[in-house]
Amino acid sequence: MSKDILQGVADYYSSRIRTHGATPEGVDWNGSASQQQRFAQLLKLVPVEEQRAGFSLIDVGCGYGALLTWMREQGLPVDYHGYDLSEQMIAAARQQHPADDAVRFEVAESASRQADYAVASGIFNVCQNTARDTWERYIADVLRAMDACSRKGFAFNCLTSYSDPPFMRDYLYYGDPCFYFDLCKRTYSREVALLHDYGLYEFTLLVRKSS
Ligand SMILES: C[S@@+](CC[C@H](N)C(=O)[O-])C[C@H]1O[C@@H](n2cnc3c(N)ncnc32)[C@H](O)[C@@H]1O
Repeated sequence: MSKDILQGVADYYSSRIRTHGATPEGVDWNGSASQQQRFAQLLKLVPVEEQRAGFSLIDVGCGYGALLTWMREQGLPVDYHGYDLSEQMIAAARQQHPADDAVRFEVAESASRQADYAVASGIFNVCQNTARDTWERYIADVLRAMDACSRKGFAFNCLTSYSDPPFMRDYLYYGDPCFYFDLCKRTYSREVALLHDYGLYEFTLLVRKSS
């Protein structure tokens, strides 16, 4: 993966959390309701029985660990590993969640272990001034890495190209949901769900690997 892109992303988010602290705004969301709505979409990847019995999860671009907080509030027995490019994010995550056997936060560009599932919320949105085709190659690289670190499946969200033009911004990337559905279906699994019905200007893709 391009070092320049990774550095640009890390710098952008580090400056957000420096300004706004460990809050939804600190990871570029406009509130906790939509942040949690995204988590609920992503967690549809994990079958209900596994949500009750226990599962392991890699949170790619975990920020300050809001997904872990949310899962704990739901009482989900998760073996959790979050990683992020930004040192400030991981410092904040560790502050909120003291390490225990089932929790690990790491500054990293890729996962250091495998898990049942991998999810990523919001990591493809801010492309800054990276050219569209370069950013799309980068996304494809990240998806390959998510596939490699997950045994049962992975899920991610992305701003949608079906957004209303007046609200679209040059520094953000709006992906074509049909393109990513096709990419995941052809490359990763026959079991792919496209969720584009939850009221935000984005979509979520769930990729379930066949057992
Ligand atoms: C929009 S924020 C969302 C944080 C968290 N997922 C949440 O929803 O609260 C995106 C986070 O992903 C991190 N990030 C972006 N691209 C990444 C990558 N390729 N690898 C690891 N972390 C990444 C950023 O540093 C940032 O903290």
